[in-house]
Amino acid sequence: MSTSSKIHASTFDWAQSIATPAYVLDAAALKRNLAHVSTIKAETGCKVLLATKAFALPAAFPLMRDVLDGTTASGEYEARLGKETFGKDVHVYSPAYAPGEVERLTELAGHIYFNSPEQIIAHLDVLKRHPDVEIGIRINPGYSNATVGGSLYDPCAPFSRFGATPDTLDQVPWDDVDILHTHALCESGDAGSVGLIEHVAREFGDYIGRVKAVNFGGGHFLNKPGYDIRKLIAAIQAFRRAFNVDVILEPGGGLVVDTGYLVGSVLAVHHNEKNIAILDASASTHMPDVLEVPYTPLIVGAGAPGEKAHSYILGGKTCMTGDIIGEYSFDAPLKAGDRLIFRDMMQYSFVKNNTFNGVPLPDLAILKENQEYEVIRSFGYDEFRRRLG
Ligand SMILES: Cc1ncc(COP(=O)(O)O)c(C=O)c1O
Repeated sequence: MSTSSKIHASTFDWAQSIATPAYVLDAAALKRNLAHVSTIKAETGCKVLLATKAFALPAAFPLMRDVLDGTTASGEYEARLGKETFGKDVHVYSPAYAPGEVERLTELAGHIYFNSPEQIIAHLDVLKRHPDVEIGIRINPGYSNATVGGSLYDPCAPFSRFGATPDTLDQVPWDDVDILHTHALCESGDAGSVGLIEHVAREFGDYIGRVKAVNFGGGHFLNKPGYDIRKLIAAIQAFRRAFNVDVILEPGGGLVVDTGYLVGSVLAVHHNEKNIAILDASASTHMPDVLEVPYTPLIVGAGAPGEKAHSYILGGKTCMTGDIIGEYSFDAPLKAGDRLIFRDMMQYSFVKNNTFNGVPLPDLAILKENQEYEVIRSFGYDEFRRRLG
């Protein structure tokens, strides 16, 4: 973990009186990120979609709709969500489709991507009845650049199920295909984005000549400090000059880097050789990537263990021994009722929530630009019960 978060805790007075746990979107921060996207689009003419798998908060879509071109979905339900709540273009890719799903998707999405030539061919009858729907082929470019989670998040890891391998590309019915798609990055910096674009240009030029557009997927960590969008812009411009095709990006996490928080409260303090604070927010139920990636999120006003006077292990109230968020230090001892504000909690967080142990789901809320705090949705016992049948 890096050292304490730089923003002074007093900026977060609003968090002292809210019900917890709560995910809070910071509208001003989202607007700041979207401004970078506007620059990329204006200078390259590319399209940028929101990957709703990372961030599906319809209440935020009015802020995003003017800048983004639409959404990209992982299947039928996300496609429907995109169509109903975002509008504009709806793209969808799944490594395989359930019976009838492609037929239903033709009513929801204007762009359907397939994982192999066989899958396109198997659905060609349905697709030909909907000539307005564009067909995409996802290729596996054999380019590894995922920077987190080892092979867990590398779409080009050995034996990956994602995308047609180069030896199968001559079997693609290219005359029916509109978009070549490649998703190979995860939390990648500008070098990863540029590297992927140049790799695809070098290795797949013959196929690019047969499509209208190339979709370079997600994983471009556009808004991460240090990501140089000028380099991405130059690479897209060069690619478009070389091939005269449209370019599409479909980031999820990269759009919402550091645009919100998970606010939790200390419920009790325990001691077992070390100080342990038990929270109403949990790694297991509310921030599964903390365990999966794994990583230790920043907390406003906290430092690394030993950096400040009072160190604590922070854990959730589930029965899972490993439900540990991390070890931190604070200026003052923690006590029940203290609020803890975890930063950068918009991507792959609430979309992955579960109610293990009956732990309550956090509120979904927005901190507006005028600092007004609005709860979008609260979940009670009914939500837990409903999902158990
Ligand atoms: C096909 C596809 N597109 C886009 C994304 C979004 O990636 P990210 O949130 O890392 O930008 C993913 C993530 O898994 C993906 O699989």
